[in-house]
Amino acid sequence: MDAQYQTGIDEIDAQHLEIEQVANAVIEAVAAKDAWHSVHYLVVRLYELLRFHFAVEESLMRIISFPDVVEHKRVHDEILQTIERMKVATLEPKGEAVRGRLAQEFSFLPHIVDHDRKLADFVVGFGGLARQQGGA
Ligand SMILES: [Fe+2]
Ligand SMILES: [Fe+2]
Repeated sequence: MDAQYQTGIDEIDAQHLEIEQVANAVIEAVAAKDAWHSVHYLVVRLYELLRFHFAVEESLMRIISFPDVVEHKRVHDEILQTIERMKVATLEPKGEAVRGRLAQEFSFLPHIVDHDRKLADFVVGFGGLARQQGGA
């Protein structure tokens, strides 16, 4: 994962990494024209990971009084709605039109954690949560 998106909180960074890996697996499954149920399973897995992760982040934002919590949550909700549409789309009958649309929609998946940069910066500036220096 791109270092600029790392929050310095191991748990959050580990969740981002897993989300990124499953998002990439979705893209690879679509590109490889895997069976619809394989793609669907991965999208459901991605949705569950995101739902949990967003709840954790929203809780953290309230704890540290992150000023952009409303806007950040709005982005979370939009992403969840998009993934929800993908879940439904992967259940539709196969066809080039559906595959083309999915490939287009899935192209944004690797960037799903990009919006956390401001949160990461704020977390670093928050006195109670210092970046780990390793070792100590
Ligand atoms: Fe995140
Ligand atoms: Fe986020």
